[in-house]
Amino acid sequence: MKTLLLQNSSDDINKAADILKNGGLVGIPTETVYGLAADALNGKAVAKIFTAKGRPMDNPLIVHISEFSDIEKYNLVSELPKFAKKLADNFWPGPLTIIMKKSEIIPDEVSAGLDTVAIRFPSHTVARQIIRASGTPLAAPSANLSGSPSPTTAQHVINDLDGKIDAVVDGGACEVGLESTVITLATDVPRVLRPGGVTLEQLRDVLGEVELDDAVLNKLADGAEVASPGMKYKHYSPKANVVLLKCGDSEYINYVNNRKNENIVALCCDEDIPLLNVKTYSIGRRNDYASQANRLFDELRKIDNDGFSGTVYSRLPSVNGVGLAVYNRLIRAAGFEVIDLEKN
Ligand code: TXA
Ligand code: MG
Repeated sequence: MKTLLLQNSSDDINKAADILKNGGLVGIPTETVYGLAADALNGKAVAKIFTAKGRPMDNPLIVHISEFSDIEKYNLVSELPKFAKKLADNFWPGPLTIIMKKSEIIPDEVSAGLDTVAIRFPSHTVARQIIRASGTPLAAPSANLSGSPSPTTAQHVINDLDGKIDAVVDGGACEVGLESTVITLATDVPRVLRPGGVTLEQLRDVLGEVELDDAVLNKLADGAEVASPGMKYKHYSPKANVVLLKCGDSEYINYVNNRKNENIVALCCDEDIPLLNVKTYSIGRRNDYASQANRLFDELRKIDNDGFSGTVYSRLPSVNGVGLAVYNRLIRAAGFEVIDLEKN
């Protein structure tokens, strides 16, 4: 199949919408990462997403809407929890996905056999235009091959999926740079299953009590039941071996500089660059978590594109604010390999 590269003109947006209405697959920009979209109410179209990405069938998809009222218009949930409106008023459109009890209309391919559905109203203008023009909600996971970092440009989507999908719409680089925060309202107490651009602190300000799922920070025991199936897969992983160091700033510099004879690079902060004597990939300044979120996947992809296959040393990030999302992605990229230098 030839993959069309479309721009964000109204002609091209209509072309993308036609492909989607006819059961095709289109890579679309959102403010978080690029999504691989299909008509969420067409199970056959949704099934193609899994084939194109090589995604395990037991990993459910997010349904994207272009108005809060789409939830009722398309009858997506069996009941609208009271907190849904509160969250929508505060964080939609934006990088927040809300899980609710699903209605009969949601195909099994979307919910992967669960009795819930994940819904997101993205803020990216082009995403909203495509959803509206399609006249249907769009199921979309990140538009990468399963297991590789999420795409933040149209070129990343092409690199992974050229020839496997009908089209990609180029809407520029993504603003947030990593995937949405996922919160479930299907539990007694609302619970964050995946941290992202909307922070745990912000959610607690609005809802009061909000739990953080164990799988966000910790490796699950083999065979453990998991609230968000995506959390059990090794994710966001470059071909090189990523190792995280738990230590202070100067310990990190010393540790890395002392491994001169090994094939290593540093995934670090701007402040570290002049102090390190190995090749560096910086994700931004030490306290700028938004920049770190924005650049993490790009830098992981650069390490791959440079053909590097040794060890990448990074520091364990902060768990404050958007730092929690960076921590969650980086610890998965490292396959939970952490060297605790503070213990010695
Ligand atoms: O920012 C984003 O969320 C992007 C853009 C394209 O919107 N999408 C995205 O989708 O990251 P994906 O499929 O890569 O990640 C969705 C996550 C997975 O971890 C999945 O297991 C979880 O959400 N999820 C989806 N539906 C769920 C449900 N009903 N219950 C629990 N977890 C669910
Ligand atoms: Mg993904």
